[in-house]
Amino acid sequence: MQTIQSVNKMQSYAIEVRSSGDSIALVPTMGSLHKGHLSLIDIAKEKADKVIVSIFVNPTQFGPSEDYKKYPRVLKEDTKKCEERGADVLFTPPVEAMFPADYSAYVQEERFSRGLCGVSRPHHFRGVTTVCLKLFNIALPNLAVFGLKDAQQCAVIRKMVTDFNLPVQIVIGPTHRDEDGMATSTRNVYLTDLQRQEALCISKSLKIAKDMVDSGTKNVDRIVAEVTHHLSSKRRIRVIYVQVVDRDTMEPSNEIIRGRSLLCAAAWVDQTRLIDNIEL
Ligand code: PAF
Repeated sequence: MQTIQSVNKMQSYAIEVRSSGDSIALVPTMGSLHKGHLSLIDIAKEKADKVIVSIFVNPTQFGPSEDYKKYPRVLKEDTKKCEERGADVLFTPPVEAMFPADYSAYVQEERFSRGLCGVSRPHHFRGVTTVCLKLFNIALPNLAVFGLKDAQQCAVIRKMVTDFNLPVQIVIGPTHRDEDGMATSTRNVYLTDLQRQEALCISKSLKIAKDMVDSGTKNVDRIVAEVTHHLSSKRRIRVIYVQVVDRDTMEPSNEIIRGRSLLCAAAWVDQTRLIDNIEL
């Protein structure tokens, strides 16, 4: 595996691979790689000749009071994991190369990014789409792999790709969960044992919702109320949203449509913001 820092070198490598007829899969990440990321690398390897993993903690997707500075950066461990997993290239551009001081072009998706996390993180998706478009232009992937845990991010990126006619296939990998059901997330490292115990309530309450639907409950309000009630019973949890949305558009639904409805939840566990979702 080679590590490339330079944007120009990354682009030249990608041009060479593509002109030799080989395909490229990109796994965009912000590092601090966990099993969820590694499962995305596996998907990428199955689908393309060359796998590029990018690690870039993107300042433009963090709000001023968010955790950009304290976001974990563990490049040495990440490099080892990517190498062991069989990635071909690790792309780690410096922030000044991606967003120099005079940077001024942004991409804004205006529909799917509005609700859910878009309400409390108004600039987040603009940062995500901007960095993804840049990464697509630099790494020239045939396909890019994202995890379903960030369902709204997946929908917003898909919409950008469709609306801009980008020649990149978006592949979504399933949410990876720890044995206790907790969705793997980089931000889980912020949690103490006690906080983690309470945070487990998020995945558990989503499972309760799924069981309700499976046993015939159709009323969206009832399901949302039940999940909110469960979450609110924990001392450290503050609910940000619990909502049933359409899987593709992220717009709220007031009925459950099998295979389309997604229940999404976001909550603070003390100072840590966590999200999760389940297909109903
Ligand atoms: O999901 C993430 O880690 C980030 O939002 C992404 C897609 C790498 C863009 O910075």
